[in-house]
Amino acid sequence: MKKTVIAISAGLALGLGVSNAQAAGGKTAAQELGCTACHGATTKLVGPSFQAVGKRYNSDKGKLLEVVKHNVKQGGSGNWTDVTGGTPMPPQPQAAGKTKKLKAIAGWIADLAK
Ligand code: HEC
Repeated sequence: MKKTVIAISAGLALGLGVSNAQAAGGKTAAQELGCTACHGATTKLVGPSFQAVGKRYNSDKGKLLEVVKHNVKQGGSGNWTDVTGGTPMPPQPQAAGKTKKLKAIAGWIADLAK
């Protein structure tokens, strides 16, 4: 019985460790790809905070990945004028095609808004 409890808590700890690692992975990826120069986790910089972005898309990771990919490829403007005063996001060619990192970023954005 005691062994089972230990096994379960070890499993839980491992599970938590993984999700924390994923969140950290998204943050690190956003730093590596230069996103954090314009996006704070919870504060507006040049662009909206990633938390605000996550809220707008209801933490929907699939939708967020689409939006992230779109903005990385083509840039974006007009969607956050109320927050940014109309500053556009330029395309981010250094991040294009980095699907794994972009997925991690989308996951991080979703988690920030929960
Ligand atoms: C030079 C500054 C800058 C950089 C660098 C930047 N962004 Fe942005 N980002 C913005 C601005 C400004 C907006 C708001 C654009 C708008 O009003 O539609 C924005 C909007 C977004 C949105 C919301 C799009 C929408 O339509 O709701 C996402 C997602 C996003 N950025 C992700 C990223 C990611 C991921 C990176 C890194 C690969 C990145 N940004 C790098 C300035 C930047």
